[in-house]
Amino acid sequence: MKLEQKLFKGKTLAILSGGGDTPAINSSIEAIRNRASLLGFKVYGVLRGWKGLLGDGDIVDLSDQPYDGYYGGTALRSSRTNPFPSKKNPESRVPQVLKNFERYKIDVLVTIGGDDTNGAAKRLFETEGIPVIGFPKTIDNDLRTRTIHNYKGKEIEAVLCPGFPSAARAMMEFTSKIKTTAESHSRILVLEVMGRDAGWLTGTATFGGATLSLIPEFDITKERKEVFFERVKEAYMSSKKKCIVIPVSEGIRWYNEKSGKVDVVYASSEVDEYGHPRFGGVSGIVASEISARLGIEARAQISGYYPRSGHCRHYDRRLTSALADKVVDLLLREDFGMMPVMKKIVPFVELEEFNTTAIDMGAVGNKPLSDEYYDINSFSFTDAYTDFLTKILEKPEYPEFKYHFPVVLPE
Ligand code: F6P
Repeated sequence: MKLEQKLFKGKTLAILSGGGDTPAINSSIEAIRNRASLLGFKVYGVLRGWKGLLGDGDIVDLSDQPYDGYYGGTALRSSRTNPFPSKKNPESRVPQVLKNFERYKIDVLVTIGGDDTNGAAKRLFETEGIPVIGFPKTIDNDLRTRTIHNYKGKEIEAVLCPGFPSAARAMMEFTSKIKTTAESHSRILVLEVMGRDAGWLTGTATFGGATLSLIPEFDITKERKEVFFERVKEAYMSSKKKCIVIPVSEGIRWYNEKSGKVDVVYASSEVDEYGHPRFGGVSGIVASEISARLGIEARAQISGYYPRSGHCRHYDRRLTSALADKVVDLLLREDFGMMPVMKKIVPFVELEEFNTTAIDMGAVGNKPLSDEYYDINSFSFTDAYTDFLTKILEKPEYPEFKYHFPVVLPE
């Protein structure tokens, strides 16, 4: 029998992206747009996150348009706008969102975001009955996707968010590049890595040749700091080239000699509409304390937006496709307030719809690095973490200068 009409003809699906960008957002938008179009939806893009649903609205038509899903960032732009009242903005802008939903005749909203953007979406679903589907996104990889990592017969609760695989590859490349400069100068490089309160991204530097690392999940108390300095000295002295790269998460909690407390270093005291302050600058403190304590030249490097920017890598491209396939399933069932996620950590070829599932957006929240992935005694990531990352990056990549020259003695 010939189907006369597409299933959702006459309906409109809108997509928005909020929060920090990643290299995989355009890939997500393209994949969701293509599938929704096939089902018959007209597809709109909401500009600048929730901001595009305020005032008169800021909406573009994505239907039947070319789209470059490999291009990094988000063509829909982003913002950290929160439609619900916050400390920074006590006025509720939910009525404006509802008004624009009506005016633009939006039937379903897909929100690409982390905990903040999707948290607001879920609240709108619960309090106002707006049909939403969440789509995960963050280089921090800290959204609780409940993805299981099977390692040596054990089930570890891991996380897999689009954006993280591309950022992980970029961090691996960044680390392996600065390692050559560390080698030339026999230096210790303290490499600051984004990730807020979670160390998932920091661990990816190990695939670029880093050894010791510091993550926010474990406080560096006065006592731990002493042990850390010892480990740094051992690692430096035993390194072939007398150099090491130490990745440190931007949000580490580091003992401050002056205050006598464990402190976080902020770049600014301002908070966004979700109440988050901006981290930044702890690498400078760690590097200068290493130099002062050990007498070894140490420099701070901030990787900043490097892992967050640039094109979408292959793993992410396929991950976003698999999750967008699951969005089709949710649309067909009209199963709203849900988010597609991977059931388990799988290698590239297994990134398929049958390995996805959907979770209730209300149960998402943040997930720090699992205990199994980091050893506080050695300040290093474990074999379990290496296995997790191997699924995503396949293998570590850092060049080594292979030649040794004979020493010449004077006659
Ligand atoms: O959440 C993503 C992230 O890149 C964090 O790792 C970082 O702390 C934050 O965003 C920085 O945000 P921005 O510089 O965009 O304010």
